[in-house]
Amino acid sequence: MNLEFCCPTLFGLEGIVADELRFGGKLTDVRAENGRVLFTGDRGTLIWANMHLRCAERVLIRLASFPAFDFEGLFEGTKAIPWENFLPVSASFPVKGHSLNSQLFSVPDCQKIIKKAIVDRLGAHYGISWFEEDGDRYQIQFSIMHDQVEIFLDTSGAGLHKRGYRANANAAPLRETLAAAMVKVARWRGRDPFIDPFCGSGTISIEAAMIALNRAPGLMRTYDAEKWHWIADTAWKDAREQAISEVRTGVELDLCASDIDPEAVALARDNAGKAGVAQFIRFETADATRRAYPEAGTLFANPPYGERLLDKESAQQLYRGMGRALAKSDLRQYYLTSDPEFERFYGYQADKRRKLYNGMIRCDLYMYFKPVTERRPVHGNPSGRADATARRGTEPRRADKPMGRNDQTGKRERTFGEGKKPFARRAQQEGRGEKSGFAPRDKYAGTQKKSTPYRDKTANSKGRNPRNPEKPRT
Ligand SMILES: C[S@@+](CC[C@H](N)C(=O)[O-])C[C@H]1O[C@@H](n2cnc3c(N)ncnc32)[C@H](O)[C@@H]1O
Repeated sequence: MNLEFCCPTLFGLEGIVADELRFGGKLTDVRAENGRVLFTGDRGTLIWANMHLRCAERVLIRLASFPAFDFEGLFEGTKAIPWENFLPVSASFPVKGHSLNSQLFSVPDCQKIIKKAIVDRLGAHYGISWFEEDGDRYQIQFSIMHDQVEIFLDTSGAGLHKRGYRANANAAPLRETLAAAMVKVARWRGRDPFIDPFCGSGTISIEAAMIALNRAPGLMRTYDAEKWHWIADTAWKDAREQAISEVRTGVELDLCASDIDPEAVALARDNAGKAGVAQFIRFETADATRRAYPEAGTLFANPPYGERLLDKESAQQLYRGMGRALAKSDLRQYYLTSDPEFERFYGYQADKRRKLYNGMIRCDLYMYFKPVTERRPVHGNPSGRADATARRGTEPRRADKPMGRNDQTGKRERTFGEGKKPFARRAQQEGRGEKSGFAPRDKYAGTQKKSTPYRDKTANSKGRNPRNPEKPRT
């Protein structure tokens, strides 16, 4: 069975996920796009991607992509998908999705139309008109952008950042996929000392240990597709055994994770225990600005940003303290923070910066990897970004924002093409819109309760964007 897959990623991680697929998964047909990576493969690919990708949010099967300007087009395009190949008669198939810059803008109505089309198709195949939906979950997602519909089947279930080791987290945990990405960007593979002096719940050190040990991140969890009848149980079992056989043994690692808060250190130790890597990490309680550091190796830090932990001024004093402690050190250093003035307080320009999103918060990864002699001090306000920020305040530029999201609230906001009137207003002006001729026509109309022979227990009208589908957590 040849399948087309789509992995949504946090913005900024697309290239890393594409590399994981190319080099780890040995795939050739891999395309990175804004906030997602597309690739093709078979059932084995589906299992491998779920179990091994460290930086993707989930693995979706792209079932169809077609233009639709009205409900009829959406209905017919959805009905054309061979649903009977994927969904058994008992399947529970909630539908969720989002619409942006499209004629079909009412997410709840699109959910109903898609559901009705699937019921029509499956009803004809199974010879029934009522679906109990009391079996395994087949989560359906749709995306409508610029009138182009995409229909997906979610194979992962819980997001892939949920590895199963972090039941508890501190106040501002870093998403596991982003922590793994930091380690990958630095190309740290366990050969030199590692230190995270702001470890919180320990995410970066745990991900680093798993990378160094070549331990698949998804070994400890389950997936929705594990229960699907068209993928043999033995395929999952074999893939797990194969992944276990690939774990490096006899490896000596020098990882240290510390935090000023003893409770955070205890939490990090506990999480590392759950992940099965506690024996590879030294945990310490220490103030990052005063502790001793190894002379060489790599430092990873996700210090407070002054948003949820500490106020801005205290966070910036911390950056100043880190600069005093480490700007002259040969340690390679990687700091992830949303503060655009980090370099000014640290005192030195980063050798490289990389824009990343921690949930909905736009951050930069400030990288110091060149020899100390090449480090350039910041006099006043040296960097382009800091200059621009000073001019415009700390507000990110519009172009910095992930599409369709509000920076402050993280909620979806409708975006419109430049110079175009907002669609709702245009629709009203032109006598269209949900309350006029744009409501579902009779053939598709009717609420689920009244006229459709199925129950949609979990339909989600929030319309989250699958290109950035997980809730912000920092
Ligand atoms: C953003 S959180 C780190 C989150 C962590 N990456 C995780 O995944 O859970 C920042 C951490 O810095 C710690 N911290 C604050 N000031 C510190 C200091 N002076 N020295 C060391 N740790 C400090 C806080 O206790 C908090 O756990």
